[in-house]
Amino acid sequence: MGHIVITGANSGIGKALLNYFASKSHEVTMVCRNPQKAKPVARAVQHKFPRATINLELADLSSMEQVKALTDRLIANNQPIDVLINNAGLIGEGDRQVTSEGFEVSFAVNHLAPFLLTHHLMPLILNSDTKKVINVASEAHRLAPFDKNDLMMQSGYTELKSYGNGKLANILHAKELQNRFGEEGLQAFSYHPGGVASNFAKNSSTFMKVAMFLVRPFFVSTEQGASTGVYLAEKEMHKEDLGQYFDKSKRKSPSKKARDVENQQFLWEESVRLLKPFL
Ligand SMILES: NC(=O)c1ccc[n+]([C@@H]2O[C@H](COP(=O)([O-])OP(=O)(O)OC[C@H]3O[C@@H](n4cnc5c(N)ncnc54)[C@H](OP(=O)(O)O)[C@@H]3O)[C@@H](O)[C@H]2O)c1
Repeated sequence: MGHIVITGANSGIGKALLNYFASKSHEVTMVCRNPQKAKPVARAVQHKFPRATINLELADLSSMEQVKALTDRLIANNQPIDVLINNAGLIGEGDRQVTSEGFEVSFAVNHLAPFLLTHHLMPLILNSDTKKVINVASEAHRLAPFDKNDLMMQSGYTELKSYGNGKLANILHAKELQNRFGEEGLQAFSYHPGGVASNFAKNSSTFMKVAMFLVRPFFVSTEQGASTGVYLAEKEMHKEDLGQYFDKSKRKSPSKKARDVENQQFLWEESVRLLKPFL
């Protein structure tokens, strides 16, 4: 492996992934939204692992315009990407919020941004030796209503349902990536990191904060949350593992909705339709 791109690499699971790959002297590109948070992390990791190369790219993944601009910069660098880890994610902060581009915020960050990022970076990924895409999903995908007429959840919005939709989309996206690009050597995966003691849901509603506080004693470390991602990135995978969903470094059957081939194809076509101005 050489060059690894990790979104949300300044915190939680993404930061643990960053530290791991830096410790193995890889080149890692962090994709983060907040320079005040990300720059000190980049500096500290570079200092700790001088043989690694740490790059920082700034982009708010709720803005498809910024995602597109980011991919333009990476494409201009023309450096192959061995592993893209779509890790950044969030659960809504109480009431439904919509971006200036018209997308519900958590669906935009959890699914539309990784879809767009992966779409534009595909030539760089396919030009690498490893050719892997890893989506950090969640067991919360089992809560997804996945109403095909209302992915932006204009009706019946709750932060958990929308989060569930985004995480289901991560699994469907990995499967469809494998279907579409497998013949070109792509290896796509999704995985559940476990309940992880990170900054996740810290800005969420009081209900979510209380729920997270109560279950936090049972949570695993960020390093443990990163371990399946490391496994998927480093291991030679079997043919039957490609496109699949993992938990604790083992293949796991996701929900019926996630296994539905029509859902996989629908989500791809719907994402292309929604993101048309940015493709
Ligand atoms: N923690 C868990 O129990 C758990 C369980 C299942 C799945 N997951 C998944 O694991 C992934 C990582 O979460 P985590 O637990 O490590 O949480 P975290 O500590 O909150 O890290 C999330 C990362 O995503 C970034 N991010 C959020 N919104 C962004 C945006 N608009 N643009 C760019 N970056 C953005 C955050 O940036 P800032 O630091 O600037 O906010 C942060 O770097 C997520 O996809 C989450 O859904 C977590």
